[in-house]
Amino acid sequence: MSYGIKRFFLLTCCLACSWSGLEAKIDLQVVRQWKKLEFNFPNDATRKTAIEKRFYVPGKCVPIDMDFHDRQDAQKSRIFVTIPRFGEGCPVTLGTVDDQGHITGYPDYSWHDNQGKNCKGLTSVYRVAIDKCNRLWVMDAGKIGSKQHCPPQLLAFDLSSDRLVYRHVVNASNYVSTSLLITPVVDVIGTSDNCKDTFVYVADALGFGILVVDVANDRSWRVTHRFMYPYPSHGSFKINDDSFDLMSGVFGMALSPYQRGRDRYLYFHALSSTTENIVSTKVLRNDSFLQNPNAEPRSIKVLPGERPNQSAAEAMDRNGILYYGIMDPPSIWCWNSATEFSPRNFHQIAVNRETLQFASGVKVVNNRKGEQELWVITSRFQKFLKGTIDSKAVNYRIHAAKIPNLFACSSCPNSPKSPHIPTKPVIPNTEFLDETLECDDLLEV
Ligand SMILES: *[C@@H]1O[C@H](CO)[C@@H](O)[C@H](O)[C@H]1NC(C)=O
Ligand SMILES: *[C@@H]1O[C@H](CO)[C@@H](O)[C@H](O)[C@H]1NC(C)=O
Ligand SMILES: *[C@@H]1O[C@H](CO)[C@@H](O)[C@H](O)[C@H]1NC(C)=O
Repeated sequence: MSYGIKRFFLLTCCLACSWSGLEAKIDLQVVRQWKKLEFNFPNDATRKTAIEKRFYVPGKCVPIDMDFHDRQDAQKSRIFVTIPRFGEGCPVTLGTVDDQGHITGYPDYSWHDNQGKNCKGLTSVYRVAIDKCNRLWVMDAGKIGSKQHCPPQLLAFDLSSDRLVYRHVVNASNYVSTSLLITPVVDVIGTSDNCKDTFVYVADALGFGILVVDVANDRSWRVTHRFMYPYPSHGSFKINDDSFDLMSGVFGMALSPYQRGRDRYLYFHALSSTTENIVSTKVLRNDSFLQNPNAEPRSIKVLPGERPNQSAAEAMDRNGILYYGIMDPPSIWCWNSATEFSPRNFHQIAVNRETLQFASGVKVVNNRKGEQELWVITSRFQKFLKGTIDSKAVNYRIHAAKIPNLFACSSCPNSPKSPHIPTKPVIPNTEFLDETLECDDLLEV
């Protein structure tokens, strides 16, 4: 693209941005969309059996999370989706999406069959994470609906061979009967290539805690703190014309970028809340939680500002910019973690009442060119909850955009620094900031 065209494109885009409130603006591109989910079965016989046993009931499943595996060479890149089993009818709980949007069980269908009776396979997966060591981390809650069929387990697959390389079955002392282990975030310690030295922090949405898995030593512990609970004042949700109540604890989680010689920070928030919390991962990695899960009251901090309303998912890029969805109005936002967590530093990336409802999966993906991309999965989850899903309308969408392109219309990376940063700031990479063109400059052309 010539410089002139690029500037014209950015100018057009910026003009659209300045008409805030106009909902025609969509900066994210829809990569896949579904009215209802369609599945590939190994053969007609397995499909028939799945329907007979009500393992497959068309129109019954909602995708909640996704990740994108961009591959080198001739191998096709893959989109992973998770489909938690809230009840009967979902033939696979983790799969890859083909060009037609059909979902194939990962790593193969046998892992998904015999639902509730196959604890060596997958029972119900809410969220996944791909790490820098080419592993797909899968958190299996072990529950179908509210029944715990199998112990929760954390698995890792090597994405080159699609072989299982790690399985940690969570011991009964580390979860409670209401637990719902949903969100894994992966901390490969240091810059070394020692992929074994890894910790995984997992949100327990309904057990109100965080599970810490020490992969090198194959052990885990539970951490609890009052910030992991839902806030009754934020237990009512509104998405367009639908209202519903949910009291969910820690749900959205993101890790700060790695900085040499420092521990990362874990950002996290409860679904039924408007706040954001921060804890040094060093605190979480302390194995004295094996004796006592209660975190020191002051070891975890709540950031001072609040979001206008609830957020289901978040992710952070390598420059310390946090991306998250907001329920009402359905929208995607960013916040530069080097600034105060306050509405004046929250920037809207996209808003759309139709396409951005309930953003339950937000991921920062490293593509094969070394660029970062923002991926988001949205659904009419509120309609699903209320049993009013209309399978003639588009209900689920996966969106994506290159992060530098998003910044053409957002001042996130350039937010003024706060004089009173409450926590140790992540220093954004300034080289990257210099490359970003600001809308204001362009409007003066
Ligand atoms: C596993 O859980 C059981 C039951 O809560 C407990 O007695 C046991 O000590 C735990 N084992 C480990 C290794 O934590
Ligand atoms: C681990 O936690 C215990 C109990 O809170 C504390 O006494 C100890 O200093 C901590 N260790 C580290 C390395 O932070
Ligand atoms: C969410 O925040 C927006 C903006 O402040 C507000 O208009 C809306 O009423 C809020 N919704 C709920 C359910 O609180």
